[in-house]
Amino acid sequence: MDRTAHDRLLIVDFGSQVTQLIARRLRELNVYCEIHPYQNVTEDFLRDFAPKAVIFSGGPDSVTREGSPRPPRAVYDLGVPILGICYGQQVMMQDLGGRVEAGEGTAEFGRAYVTPGADRIDLLNGWFLDGTGREQVWMSHGDHVAALAPGFAVYGTSPGAPFAVTADLARRFYAVQFHPEVHHTPNGRTLYENFVRDAGFAGDWTMNAYREEAVQKIRDQVGEAKVICALSGGVDSSVAAALIHEAVGDQLTCVFVDHGLLRLNEAEEVVGMFRDHMNLQVIHAEEQELFLSQLEGVSDPETKRKTIGRLFIDVFQKYADQIEGAAFLAQGTLYPDVIESVSFSGGPSVTIKSHHNVGGLPEKMGLKLVEPLRELFKDEVRALGRELGLPDSFIGRHPFPGPGLAIRCPGEITREKLEILRRADAVFIDQIRRHGLYDEIWQAFAAILPVRTVGVMGDGRTYDFACALRAVTSVDGMTADFYPFSHEFLGETATRIINEVRGINRVTYDVTSKPPGTIEWE
Ligand code: XMP
Repeated sequence: MDRTAHDRLLIVDFGSQVTQLIARRLRELNVYCEIHPYQNVTEDFLRDFAPKAVIFSGGPDSVTREGSPRPPRAVYDLGVPILGICYGQQVMMQDLGGRVEAGEGTAEFGRAYVTPGADRIDLLNGWFLDGTGREQVWMSHGDHVAALAPGFAVYGTSPGAPFAVTADLARRFYAVQFHPEVHHTPNGRTLYENFVRDAGFAGDWTMNAYREEAVQKIRDQVGEAKVICALSGGVDSSVAAALIHEAVGDQLTCVFVDHGLLRLNEAEEVVGMFRDHMNLQVIHAEEQELFLSQLEGVSDPETKRKTIGRLFIDVFQKYADQIEGAAFLAQGTLYPDVIESVSFSGGPSVTIKSHHNVGGLPEKMGLKLVEPLRELFKDEVRALGRELGLPDSFIGRHPFPGPGLAIRCPGEITREKLEILRRADAVFIDQIRRHGLYDEIWQAFAAILPVRTVGVMGDGRTYDFACALRAVTSVDGMTADFYPFSHEFLGETATRIINEVRGINRVTYDVTSKPPGTIEWE
């Protein structure tokens, strides 16, 4: 995005687990903001970024520790409003001449209630209105402010934080001990709204504005060159493709790799929608035989993923090579993948599953990247998709993993099992839609189990596969809980699957949360 086009807010990240939520709240208020780790925020950076306001995030360190994270002094001389949150509050106090002390009886974790001070402050307009005279907030701090910096006064207190809300009104510096960005501070959004209004933000970060600017930017970047895009039918690649198509029309060619591990009618739906409905050039790479033959006899989940990932790159490259003059590869990278958050845990985390992606492609093929969604969060991508005219049924789709049904077929993959699985999955999803539950559920699918069980149908004995149904609620797929279907729903669904899908005679429902389970069975 052209940074000069919007007022910008800078979030200095001190390593809080919830820094991204600050950005979410601000984007909801149509404010353009960026998160940058404190180490990168130098004086030069500040000059270049020219924020209209600054927010200091929370963080796990203690300002009482020598060498703890700090912003450059110059941030206080910008003459723009600053809001410090939790650790950010303590940084401000310490930097500006106050005092912070370690724990000792005033640590607060979880729900707390703030009561207003004697003087009103615009930052809290809209608070304390429910008649209780207090406002619920979320605290998570060990250290506390022991003495205010000169110029600051107190505008709200909580039992464990006498300085819960503080401000230097002359300089428009605000500092709060709690986290207004989290769900458990129900009126936190109002606080952010008051802050950005005071800072003079126009609220001009709208999807319509974004769309127009993004289109222009793609045109400037791509010129007359050709762009290729691996279209999966997922929200990110679909929206990226639609946006690039709006910018450069037929200079874009999409490749839809059909690995034979898709859901019932999926390939036809995706290709039909983009080719016929949206007039994109789409190559339907029908490579089912290649993938399925290479997967024959493979039962290890990681080998499945690696095989599919490798073949995917080969296949994509083969089709892309046929597009003369392709110089750019489109990717649906989102902002959460771009944010270089401060990590205090150190060291790479353990790989539970190696998610497949097309990350190795650009270097291998000598392509430049077009990533028009780099500044967006997932729900903003959905909003943009709607702007671009993608149907709601597409935008609201549950996520589907790159390796597809391969990881919903524990053990050895066979064509027979895939066919049975496809049909069972379709009945399950149909049930969910019929009962109006699709949008309440984050992801739902069937898995076919590598066992046959005995049943009785009519007067005969059956010896068929069992399947497991999985439906979870989640925000980001990192943690999840099983969806609490009614027993009636489960009974009706089991009956339908057994009646309508030959090859299955037993249906189970997976009630494992994540952790300890994962969402997929492999
Ligand atoms: P798990 O099973 O790890 O899944 O709890 C979390 C989310 O990631 C998806 N998933 C994958 N997506 N390639 C993908 O593109 C993969 O190999 C893969 N494995 C899991 C899963 O569907 C869920 O949405």
